[in-house]
Amino acid sequence: MKTTSTRLAGLGTTIFAEMSALATRTGAINLGQGFPDTDGPPEVVDQAVQALREGRNQYAPGIGVPELRRAIADHQLRFYDLAIDPDTEVAVSTGATEAIAAALLGLIDPGDEVIVLEPYYDSYVAMLQMAGAVRRPVTLRAPDFRLPLDELRAAVTPRTTAILLNSPHNPTGSVLRREELAAIAEIAIEHDLVVISDEVYEHLTFDGLPHIPIATLPGMAERTLTISSGGKSFSFTGWKIGWATGPAPLVAATMGVKQFLTYTSGSPLQPAIAHALDADDAYFTDFTARLQSQRDLLCDGLVAIGFDVLVPEGTYFVTTDIRPLGFDDGIDFCRQLPERAGVVAIPHQVFWDDQDAGRPLVRWAFCKRPEIINEALTRLGALRH
Ligand SMILES: Cc1ncc(COP(=O)(O)O)c(C=O)c1O
Repeated sequence: MKTTSTRLAGLGTTIFAEMSALATRTGAINLGQGFPDTDGPPEVVDQAVQALREGRNQYAPGIGVPELRRAIADHQLRFYDLAIDPDTEVAVSTGATEAIAAALLGLIDPGDEVIVLEPYYDSYVAMLQMAGAVRRPVTLRAPDFRLPLDELRAAVTPRTTAILLNSPHNPTGSVLRREELAAIAEIAIEHDLVVISDEVYEHLTFDGLPHIPIATLPGMAERTLTISSGGKSFSFTGWKIGWATGPAPLVAATMGVKQFLTYTSGSPLQPAIAHALDADDAYFTDFTARLQSQRDLLCDGLVAIGFDVLVPEGTYFVTTDIRPLGFDDGIDFCRQLPERAGVVAIPHQVFWDDQDAGRPLVRWAFCKRPEIINEALTRLGALRH
């Protein structure tokens, strides 16, 4: 009996599931998976409860309820001056994950080459493989994780059809600068490529660094599908309400797949995320400031323990090099960490094709309450020489 398709070859179980199960089994503090340990605004929960009670419990329109599509378009206009038609240029999805999957299946043919920033968020590798695409990595290397523009130019071939971007970037925490985005835009326009831009950490850039959607660069709105989600910006990762915005043909291709994956997404949660998106600017600045102070707490503590800390410009995550503490293999280190110190982290290797580059790096999530970060740091003190 055939039990697996070749589409799944080599994909296995995600490291996040393995490490979260390890955390549950050992009672370790989970600084592995990127979910906050504090829920988002209570009034957003109230909106969801109200929607449940008001009977908004049947299928929503496939592209999303009108008030959420309107709120997404308003958000793009308010923060980025991007004008979007809520009826044809927005599709609501089951998290950014589904939007990524639907976009790749809807826009990429088998054999197409897609340029991706390495290290990669794991769903990109899986979905490119399922789409039959060939991934062409352009590697962001430690310690500063900048985009090597010459390598980006060299990665384009006659078979390239798309660039899959992620900024702020998981797992490195790097945020693409305007010069880097301009170089990507130039290449995309010259070679007539689609850009799929995963911006789920759009409200998590630190030290005043701006998040610049590549769709805002000249000539890019018409060739960019931008993906985001309510999970990270509003601390409701379990709700899985995401979206894609961009030119109508790219959104239509994404919807063409989405209609057969899930058809529609979380009806009562959609109006609540619409309410969240309408929050005043103070919500977003307070949220960023809180995460920045959690970043600083974790980074300072990891430095004090002796890690080489690669301070992130954005996202939920900090990367460390574990070699100063006498370790050299992140997978071994992370598998032993719950026993040794009662903490779970994620080895970078799972995000890399270049295993040597990823081997000494480990990713830690700081989307946790300060007291939890402090407790984790106290436990990690056991690793000091
Ligand atoms: C870069 C990136 N894209 C997408 C996602 C998934 O987003 P969602 O939970 O909305 O599906 C994540 C979650 O960790 C992520 O880090």
